[in-house]
Amino acid sequence: MIVGVIGSGAMGAGIAQVAAVAGHNVVLYDNNASALDKAKAGLTTTLRKLQEKGKLANADEVLQRFSFADNVVAFSECGLIIEAIVERLDVKKAVFAEVEKAVSDTCILASNTSSLSITSIAAACSNPARVMGLHFFNPAPLMALVEIIPAVQTNPELIPVAKELMLKWGKTPVIAKDTPGFIVNRVARPFYSEAIRIYEEGIADMATIDWAMTEIGGFKMGPFTLMDYIGHDVNYVVTETVFQSFFYDPRYKPSFSQKRLLEAGWLGRKSGKGFYNYAAGAEMPAPNKDEVLGMEIVERVLAMLINEATDALYLNVASAADLEIAMTKGVNYPKGLLQWCSEWGADRCLEKLDSLYHDYHEDRYRASILLRKQAIGNKKIV
Ligand SMILES: NC(=O)c1ccc[n+]([C@@H]2O[C@H](COP(=O)([O-])OP(=O)(O)OC[C@H]3O[C@@H](n4cnc5c(N)ncnc54)[C@H](O)[C@@H]3O)[C@@H](O)[C@H]2O)c1
Repeated sequence: MIVGVIGSGAMGAGIAQVAAVAGHNVVLYDNNASALDKAKAGLTTTLRKLQEKGKLANADEVLQRFSFADNVVAFSECGLIIEAIVERLDVKKAVFAEVEKAVSDTCILASNTSSLSITSIAAACSNPARVMGLHFFNPAPLMALVEIIPAVQTNPELIPVAKELMLKWGKTPVIAKDTPGFIVNRVARPFYSEAIRIYEEGIADMATIDWAMTEIGGFKMGPFTLMDYIGHDVNYVVTETVFQSFFYDPRYKPSFSQKRLLEAGWLGRKSGKGFYNYAAGAEMPAPNKDEVLGMEIVERVLAMLINEATDALYLNVASAADLEIAMTKGVNYPKGLLQWCSEWGADRCLEKLDSLYHDYHEDRYRASILLRKQAIGNKKIV
């Protein structure tokens, strides 16, 4: 099967690499010639480096599988197209409608969107049953997780086909309902937003929150370091999109602290400044390693994360197993949130949320009904 990829940016080039290494001929299309040239040069360098490191047998053989196109006509022989262009619904819809005319009747059309509705994208096609979400994580060649998202219109028979294919590509597929943020970008929101809230309230500074979440919580990166790493142009925009898509549910409310960074162009590591200053010689602030404060921070963020995962399960966004896989493989959490809930005890988690709810009187802290039910008799989900 020939695989077509639309958009040769960070994600498109990475997905094209994964497909080619898995043995497919790949047509990579971009409407920007210089982006295509950059992807071509980048793929050549990356694949040669992989060969040097002994991780790829023959880079030139893989490189020969690529063709680079400036027109969708080149997709005529493809069996699967994965779109990874700019995150705008109007543009994606126009591209899907155009691409559908260029491909065979049996070609599957997938979007790598992080936060847009797959159902809306599918609606742009005359055969929406062939459309689904295939959400890879950045960098696509290294991150194992792929969220498979059936749209309302998707032919259900295509889902096991997609799953099988992702397994062949060495990926770990999970199935997610077409709801805002799918699994990872929904369930992970409190990791960022509750950390910012703690900082905004002056309970602790960024360095202390990052220290608590890594040293006590066991996360690989603290929330502020991670947001700076992802970039506020990406992380803030996902938060805002998820918030709007959830009909302004306060649980997903973005913060002014992060919005202002975006407005200032302080995008994080890539611009040299974000929550932290990355200029040469700049000193990183030291955390206050107060264990009691650290534990308070971890409990609050973790309770919010567990609540989000529990609610996603309750609302059938994904199975319990897929929720655990998604958070450990997609954002490298030290353990699944449902397992964490069992280890902590649903009652302890509920108690934390209810005390926050009691203190703030904000809907943001409402506990999931499933968590409340689990807390009775301290039942375990996993
Ligand atoms: N970057 C991430 O961390 C990440 C992770 C998962 C999913 N995504 C999603 O993947 C998609 C692409 O993200 P990215 O980070 O690779 O973006 P990017 O800006 O690096 O690349 C997008 C590419 O698409 C091309 N493009 C734009 N409009 C086009 C059009 N109409 N026709 C053809 N090509 C067009 C651009 O020239 C560019 O090369 C987005 O939907 C994003 O939400 C991104």
